[in-house]
Amino acid sequence: MKNILDFTKELMLMHFHDGDVLVDFTMGNGNDTLFLHQQFPESMLIAFDIQEIALENTKLLLQENHANMEKITLINDSHSNLDCYIHSVIDGGIFNLGYLPSCNKQITTLAETTIQAIQKAINLLKIGGLLIIVVYQGHKNGAIESNIVFDYCVNLDNRKFTVLQYNFVNKKAPPYILAIQKDK
Ligand SMILES: C[S@@+](CC[C@H](N)C(=O)[O-])C[C@H]1O[C@@H](n2cnc3c(N)ncnc32)[C@H](O)[C@@H]1O
Repeated sequence: MKNILDFTKELMLMHFHDGDVLVDFTMGNGNDTLFLHQQFPESMLIAFDIQEIALENTKLLLQENHANMEKITLINDSHSNLDCYIHSVIDGGIFNLGYLPSCNKQITTLAETTIQAIQKAINLLKIGGLLIIVVYQGHKNGAIESNIVFDYCVNLDNRKFTVLQYNFVNKKAPPYILAIQKDK
């Protein structure tokens, strides 16, 4: 079976296409940003993070990998403000929730702003588009965020959205994936 990060990549490869408008809502060290750019080099890619260090690390990673920066916009702001920056339809996006490994673990995604961002992203998402959310419930804020994000997804109108959960049910508080497809 594919682990969480491998299955996340699989979902991106299955659902996103080169030329799509794609969003990395939690840039961190830039691994997802780089993956998306390498797999979909013609896509316009927008990445958010509230930490300056995330932008520095991501810029470095992209430079080391000769990324075409004309296709990538790095934004030092909360994903909950995405509507200040994105005025077009989006085709897909990824949230990798939680904190930046090897940095301040107190700086983490929080339920309130995560839900605001998901709601705004859903409004911009094209029909057939996919939002992937990797949820970490193993730390204190993560458990609270997980409950709220899961509840939000469970209550999405099933005439308009299909929501997948990919979860290893015999592990204690493992990370898991939610993926929201907009059907109508
Ligand atoms: C698990 S890390 C992301 C890992 C990243 N995708 C990578 O490939 O390295 C979560 C990131 O979300 C960021 N974050 C926390 N709150 C945020 C917010 N409101 N808007 C955007 N990013 C946020 C953190 O600063 C952290 O860098």
